[in-house]
Amino acid sequence: MIIITSPQEILTGELSVPGDKSITHRAIMLGALAHGTTEIKRFLDADDCWSTVNCLRALGVKISRKGNRLLIEGRNKKLLKPAADLDAGNSGTTARLMLGLLAGQDFQARITGDHSLQKRPMKRVVDPLEQMGAAFDENTDNLPLTIRGGSLQPIVYKTPRASAQIKSAILLAGLYAQGQTIVKEPYQSRNHTELMLSCFGVEPEVEGNQVGIKGGVALKGSQVIVPGDISAAAFLIVAAVITPGSELLLKEVGVNDTRKGIIELLLKMGAHVELQDEKLWGKERVADIFVQGGARLKGVHVSGEMIPRLIDEIPALAVAASLAEGQTVISDASELRVKESDRISTLAVQLKKMGAKIVETADGMIIEGTEKLKGADVEACGDHRIAMALAIAGLAAQGETAVSGAEVINISFPGFMQSLRSLLDK
Ligand code: S3P
Repeated sequence: MIIITSPQEILTGELSVPGDKSITHRAIMLGALAHGTTEIKRFLDADDCWSTVNCLRALGVKISRKGNRLLIEGRNKKLLKPAADLDAGNSGTTARLMLGLLAGQDFQARITGDHSLQKRPMKRVVDPLEQMGAAFDENTDNLPLTIRGGSLQPIVYKTPRASAQIKSAILLAGLYAQGQTIVKEPYQSRNHTELMLSCFGVEPEVEGNQVGIKGGVALKGSQVIVPGDISAAAFLIVAAVITPGSELLLKEVGVNDTRKGIIELLLKMGAHVELQDEKLWGKERVADIFVQGGARLKGVHVSGEMIPRLIDEIPALAVAASLAEGQTVISDASELRVKESDRISTLAVQLKKMGAKIVETADGMIIEGTEKLKGADVEACGDHRIAMALAIAGLAAQGETAVSGAEVINISFPGFMQSLRSLLDK
């Protein structure tokens, strides 16, 4: 349980947010497949990434930790049959990408996850992997799943939705197929897998929303420095945006184009956010993000290609929209219903308790901005990003907000409350 007590405080100072979750998962996985050692600096030390580490350790990969670095002894694409079920915990990325990896292995493995992950759809990766030649005990939508990998053939796959998890599972399996595997998406999803593959010596062919990869190529161990996670930063950015007088500098955050929709949208809403000192870390763009609070925000419409570019930031966006002038309409975002919670419903139910005016739609929500929120007893609903969204809403609310179940924040942002407090206690 976390408790936020208003009167409104301001956020000031400078902070580094934890490493990017998507990039950390991929660095661990590609490191495991590579030939030689991979060193990952500033990795995200959070539950979801440990799920990936634990699955790969069970598949025979040696992974050690030295301070803020992970060292991976790659197995040159050949993993070992696990002695027990693989456990992806709460992590959808672990489960779906791991299925892609397992599709290329010459053994049978069973993968499962926690209660929430067992309810999330898996058929979206089972279908293409089956087309490539992987065998599943039964083609169901839910974990646990038993997969037998083997000799894969390349496919050309048109994904029904923009999803980096589907795309990445197919590309990882494609590393084992004889020939070129191609994935086409309706809109571009985050491209960390493609960018990182090229740092490991495998050059994907990218054309618009289409990625191709040649199978049968070896990966070379690499050094990865993980940028700060914009999905974690988003909560602090919005916290500063909605508290007048705030001045916040977040250091070295990943601002890859496929991830920085939240910055573009906050600017469109009238927020004062600046990217400073932009540079490349490997193939990933990194910047310091400066935020000044207090600008009057305007409602916005968000849909289409923008959705995959800010899908994980919609909980933070919903808080900003609740305090904006006018209406915000979010559509084409039905994927939110199958995240760690049904985020359309959990956001509407929980933020309404705080006086927000939110109406659920099938594929999004309509938010009518209001001047002030009120403190309330709210629930994280087993979802790390809902917990953080409610905590920052509490900063802009009159009275006390108590978020129960907030321990779940450790899934992606251990130290979130300490970070927030360090910026408030000036
Ligand atoms: C992720 C992709 C996104 C995102 C998730 C992480 C990834 O999911 O919501 O938190 O690391 O590939 P989808 O690819 O299913 O949209």
